[in-house]
Amino acid sequence: MYGLINKALKDMIRERFGEEQWQAVLSASGAQEDSFLAMRNYDDSITYSLAQAASEVLDAPLDTCLEMFGEYWVLETATKSYEILLNAAGQDLVEFLTNLNALHDRITSTFLNYSPPEFHIEEKEDHHLIHYVSQREGLTPFVVGLLKGLAIRFGREIDILSQTEVDVDQGAHTIFEIKLS
Ligand code: HEM
Repeated sequence: MYGLINKALKDMIRERFGEEQWQAVLSASGAQEDSFLAMRNYDDSITYSLAQAASEVLDAPLDTCLEMFGEYWVLETATKSYEILLNAAGQDLVEFLTNLNALHDRITSTFLNYSPPEFHIEEKEDHHLIHYVSQREGLTPFVVGLLKGLAIRFGREIDILSQTEVDVDQGAHTIFEIKLS
């Protein structure tokens, strides 16, 4: 995973819990001090170890940590560093999610050999289905936080009515049934 993801996790822990807790997370994760260069591609295991270590040190479930990180990524990291890209992707939640694959596609020349997820949105009578398809496993709670962060960004209430895992040979495919108000 690109270092900017690891760096954002580091920023979140330092800002929210302080330097001492961050040092404890870093040491529990076994990650090297130089795992945080934004534009370098690192092994995914570093990101997973950092998240697992955060869960242990902060004494909070892994899913809670990943969800918190998803919200932080949208509301802090992306807003500070990629506001132009975010703005170009849409001015409401459904439009934004529809354009999210194009957003990730547009930056493939910047992030060489990266593996972004895919999102597909289906409009139903009174709710939406969001398909999250990834080559990775275990990041669905991160997506929950991303969706909640996006809802805050666009001033909407999001209710995740259900979350279904589709059987896949590799990676993950989750279908979120969401209601917006
Ligand atoms: C403009 C802002 C954004 C940029 C620059 C960006 C870029 C990236 C990068 C570099 C990765 C790492 C992939 C890799 O290293 O292989 C990534 C992963 C990811 N991105 Fe984005 N992204 C942005 C916005 C978003 C938003 C708003 C969402 C919300 C749903 C999102 C969903 C994800 C997810 C879930 C992953 C984890 C990888 C996976 O699931 O397999 N991204 N993105």
